[in-house]
Amino acid sequence: MEKKGKEVSRRDFLTVTTSAVGAVGIGAAAIPFIKFMSPSKDIIRAGVMDVDISGLKEGEFKIVMWRKQPVFLLKRDKRMIETAARIDPSKLKDPASPEERVKRPDFLVCIGICTHLGCIPHFQPEKIAPGFDLPGFYCPCHGGKYDTLGRRLDGPPPENLHLVPYEFIDGKKLRIGTPEFAGFTENIRKIQDLPKVKV
Ligand code: FES
Repeated sequence: MEKKGKEVSRRDFLTVTTSAVGAVGIGAAAIPFIKFMSPSKDIIRAGVMDVDISGLKEGEFKIVMWRKQPVFLLKRDKRMIETAARIDPSKLKDPASPEERVKRPDFLVCIGICTHLGCIPHFQPEKIAPGFDLPGFYCPCHGGKYDTLGRRLDGPPPENLHLVPYEFIDGKKLRIGTPEFAGFTENIRKIQDLPKVKV
């Protein structure tokens, strides 16, 4: 009886051990697969970038790189806000009101790539160019001109500078991008095509 019991125990032990090893093997093999199926937080957040804007003073301009694209950040001062507000949107080639361009009147966030052939326009804090006595952006490649809302005023650019999704976080941080822009093919394509994005 004792012998039989021992034999049963040994058999049970071998069965349990084999099952356990199998389970561990399957589990180990499954880990990379599960990881592959569930993108990490880093990947999900890859399209999102936080920028500290607490030190940006009125009239200051900054360029940050987001998804390999220059993004213009401009803390608009009173003159910038007023001069752009005087422009009649209906006279623009790509009509847009100030409210359609910014979430906060004092802050512009847009892609810093000229919509003509892709040069990076220069920030002109005093006047855009001779004959354009207001602050804005000047594209030296072919003379494209934009106001401080990134709206196309003159020259060959067909459209305004493109907008990106963003939000202000507690007044000190700017979050550029959204999780939906985090690496899914459709969104990469959209970004590469520099689409108009609703803010
Ligand atoms: S690329 Fe800017 S005006 Fe041509």
